[in-house]
This record gives sequence, C-alpha cells and structure tokens, in this order.
Amino acid sequence: MSMKGGLSSLPTTKKRWKGFAVTVLALVVLSLVVPLLFLLGFQNRFPTGDATEKSCQLRFGSYCLWCREHKEKMKDRKVKKMKDQLFIARAYYPSIAKLKGYEKLTLEMKQNIQEHERILSDTIVDAGLPPNIDKVIQRLKATVAKARSCHVDCSNVDKKLRQILDLTEDEANFHLRQSAFLYHLGVQTIPKSLHCLSMRLTVEYFRSNGADMDSSSADKHNPDKQHCVVFSRNVLASSIVINSTVMHAEDSRNLVFHLLTDEENYFAMKFWYSKNSFGKAFIYVLNIEEFKTNYMNDMNSSQMSFSEEFRISIPVSEEMTPSRMRTEYISVFGHAHFLLPDILKNLKRVVILDDDVVVQRDLLPLWNLDLGDKVIAAIQFCGVRFGQLKSYLGSNSYDSETCSWMSGVNIIDLEKWREYNISGSYLRLLQEQKSGGEESWRTSVLPASLLAFKDQVYPLEDSWALSGLGHDYEVDTITLKNYAILHYNGNMKPWLELGIARYKSYWKKFLKQNDLFMNECNVNL
Ligand SMILES: *[C@@H]1O[C@H](CO)[C@@H](O)[C@H](O)[C@H]1NC(C)=O
Ligand SMILES: *[C@@H]1O[C@H](CO)[C@@H](O)[C@H](O)[C@H]1NC(C)=O
Ligand SMILES: *[C@@H]1O[C@H](CO)[C@@H](O)[C@H](O)[C@H]1NC(C)=O
Repeated sequence: MSMKGGLSSLPTTKKRWKGFAVTVLALVVLSLVVPLLFLLGFQNRFPTGDATEKSCQLRFGSYCLWCREHKEKMKDRKVKKMKDQLFIARAYYPSIAKLKGYEKLTLEMKQNIQEHERILSDTIVDAGLPPNIDKVIQRLKATVAKARSCHVDCSNVDKKLRQILDLTEDEANFHLRQSAFLYHLGVQTIPKSLHCLSMRLTVEYFRSNGADMDSSSADKHNPDKQHCVVFSRNVLASSIVINSTVMHAEDSRNLVFHLLTDEENYFAMKFWYSKNSFGKAFIYVLNIEEFKTNYMNDMNSSQMSFSEEFRISIPVSEEMTPSRMRTEYISVFGHAHFLLPDILKNLKRVVILDDDVVVQRDLLPLWNLDLGDKVIAAIQFCGVRFGQLKSYLGSNSYDSETCSWMSGVNIIDLEKWREYNISGSYLRLLQEQKSGGEESWRTSVLPASLLAFKDQVYPLEDSWALSGLGHDYEVDTITLKNYAILHYNGNMKPWLELGIARYKSYWKKFLKQNDLFMNECNVNL
C-alpha cells in the first residue's frame, strides 16, 4: 500500500506543477486574446462565434463549407456516393473489358455495376437502400481498386479519373474555389460489335466499287426543303435519329439529311445509307475532313469533335451559406459545328440533331419557327447559369443570370450566323481560353461555345426535348412519351451495354431488324 502511495506521489506533484504552468500560459494567452476579441467585437458585432469559420472561408472559400456540410448526415449521402462509384466503375469498364486475361475481373465488374444500377433505379434516398448496402458498396470499391491496379493500357483511364478521384486536398480546394468543376465525359466508346459493323460495311463499300452510291444532289442545296444536320461516328445511332425523324414526318419527301462523319466511318456510312431507305428522305453523307477550312487547319481529327459533353459540379447555393456540391450534365457544340455555315454554303436554316437522340414527333414546326433576330434556338438549361461558370468564362462580359443551353435539338439561322461571324468569335474565344494540354483544349470548348452564342439564343419550349437519359436514373417513364425528342446525354448511351435499361426500348424501337451485316457482327443492343 505504502509503496504504491510513495510511487504515485511523485507524479502527482509533477502534474500539479504542469497544471499550474498550463494555467499560467492560458491566462497569458487569454489576456492577450480577450482584448483583441473585444476590440474586434467592438468593430464587428458578431465576431467570436464563427471566427475560425471565417478564416477557413477566407483561405479555402466554399471548400470549408462543403467539408462541414459533408460532416453532417445527409439523407441521400450514400446514394450520392454510390452514383459516383458507379460513374468511376463505368469509366474503367471498357478498358478492362478490352484486356486479355482479365475476363474474370471484367465479369466481376459487370455484375457489380449491374447490381449498383438495379439498386439505384429503385431509390433516391438512403432510407430506401437494402440492408446489405455496405457490402455492396465495398464489393464495387474492391473491384475498382483491382481495375486501378492493372498496369496495361489503363494509364489513359487512370489519368482522366485522377482528376475526380484522387484529388489532393489542395486540388480540391482549388477546384471548389473556382465555383465549378468541369469534367469532360469521354463517352465515345464504341462497342466491339458496332466497330465490326463499321468495318464490315466499309469492306462492302469497296467490294461494290462504290457504284451507284451517289444519288442525285439536286436537293442538296435547295433552300425550300427541310434540312437536317446530324454529326455522327456511329452508323446505328445516326440511323436511329434519321429513321425516327422520318417515321414521324407527315411528308418525308421534303426532308434532306446532311450526315457529317469522319474519314474512318465515311465509307461505312455511305454504304449503309445507299442500301437502306428512309421514307422518301434524301440523305447525304459528308466527310468532315474535306471541309476543314484554313482557320481550322491546325486541328487534328480527334479535335474536330462533334458534340461535347461535360459533367459540372457546382455549389448548391451561394458562397456564404453552407452549401454542398450538385452535379449537372451539359452538352454543347464541338468544333465541327462551327464549320457548318461554310459546309452548307447555300442554306439558310437547318435543324441540328445530336446522334444520341430519338425523335417521337413530327419536327415540321421547327423549320417554321420564328427565331426573331436570334441565331439559334435551344432548350435552355437554367441548372447552370453563366455566373456559376465564372472561372471558366474569363474576363468576357456577360449577364451572370444567363442560363446555359443544350445541344441535342437546335434550329440554326445560318444567314445570321454568317452575318454575325459566330464562328469567328468562337475561334477567338477558343484561342483566349486554351492554355495548353489536351484537357484544357477540351474544357475550353464549353465557355467558347456558350459565349459565341451569347444573347443569340431563342429558348425552345421544354416539351421539345427531355434530356438526361444517359445519366439520370430517376426520370419518370410515364412522361417520356410527352416529349418530341428524347436526349440520351450522359455517359450511359443506349447503344452501350451499360446504358440505362429502362429507357432503351424508346430508342431500340427504330433499329433496323434482321440486317445481314448486323447479324454477322452480333449487334445485339
Ligand atoms: C495531333 O495529334 C498528334 C498525335 O496524334 C499530336 O502529337 C499533335 O500535337 C496533335 N496536334 C495538335 C495541333 O494538337
Ligand atoms: C470573322 O472573325 C475572324 C476571327 O475573329 C476574322 O479573322 C474574320 O476576318 C472575320 N470575318 C468577317 C467576315 O468579319
Ligand atoms: C425504322 O424503324 C422501324 C420501326 O419503327 C423499323 O421497322 C425499320 O426497320 C427501321 N428502318 C431502318 C432503315 O432502320
């Protein structure tokens, strides 16, 4: 007993001394800080409670609000996390599926992805998730980790993903202070079967000597016809856009399609459209490479992009109130669109359709729509306003309340486009924006494309198009038939195995049945 007491008495005295020293130190600090706080309090009525918060905000901007917000329990936090995980898994999947010797991992990924999809199509809040959800999340996480550790050929995916996945805190701070974070969706993966189809059709084109491929071009430049432009590298996707347009047209004789594609798919497209007819519509296949004008000369064909899609993260509310990030998807014109006034020299007005849409109504009213003095008609997208993109829009002047707009379905007044030199403005903006590397090149398309049409957008009625079918699991399928056009923007295109199953049938309806070449290539969408 006494031994114990003796042993413990020494530290106790030490502790007391230590306690004393701490108290003194604390008093000294307080005596310095309290007057300072008082002084501050005198000038500013509410300084004390959120002083640390303020300094956090000054240093990190909305990031600290975001952090704090994410510490709180949110009702859909897990759902959001699952969506992000799914997004990442999908980005890896095509690269892994291509690798030899990774069949097991491919299958595992596919099953995990499908499981996630199934769950996410059932619920939008955490409360609706099944009880074993943590295991499900863990499984996909482990699979993605395996995919990430594979060295062959994965560097590309990895590089791209690092931007959203492996952000260091500093980078995250940087992006969040930027008010928005753009992520370019590289969705142009073509499944093996569609690639096979394109090759097969190309071979067939040359076997048939390209004979009788050229239909009369009398209507090509006839401004009295209804001209429609489709940019595409995908035979079947373009075919579905055209077929669904024609099927709903009261009179297809007046329809003229200008299908712009790249060198690689040009002959396949020529062959497909010479062998298939679509009502009485005229279809002209054009190779975009032949139309590069001087000012686009220094662009690679990979840079001659068609529509460009982005995923944008922006704070839910204004900077000074607690905010979390929300994600929006937007699609805009790519470089190739800005060649249109030169390619279609004699035309006054065209309707442009993206190749990830399906048409459900007669589009005739679009050609007759009065745009007033505007250059373009588009569906406005007020989920992203110019003010929220300020870090990307640079020093150009604009109204920060302006809504962005979507590609997908657009009516273009080509005469006004030429008159206002929209392509010239676009190029100027692009030069100002781009600061190097491939990724910066891509992201500069968004601001340049939006600003080139500043104050020139005529808002189309919302019932013309429903977008989001390539990323949003929560679209009410009952309303789908009310829209003239369905837009599968996002990375889950209907021709990919990973496309959202609930929306696929609306698109597949217009696929050609029993085609010899499709069968040979096992096209089974
Ligand atoms: C075109 O692509 C090649 C590689 O394919 C690249 O080295 C070159 O820098 C690109 N040109 C431009 C103008 O970006
Ligand atoms: C259009 O703009 C471009 C670049 O800004 C310029 O080089 C060109 O001369 C302009 N064209 C006309 C017709 O004004
Ligand atoms: C167009 O769609 C219909 C179904 O609506 C289909 O029967 C037909 O084969 C398609 N035509 C072509 C050329 O794709």
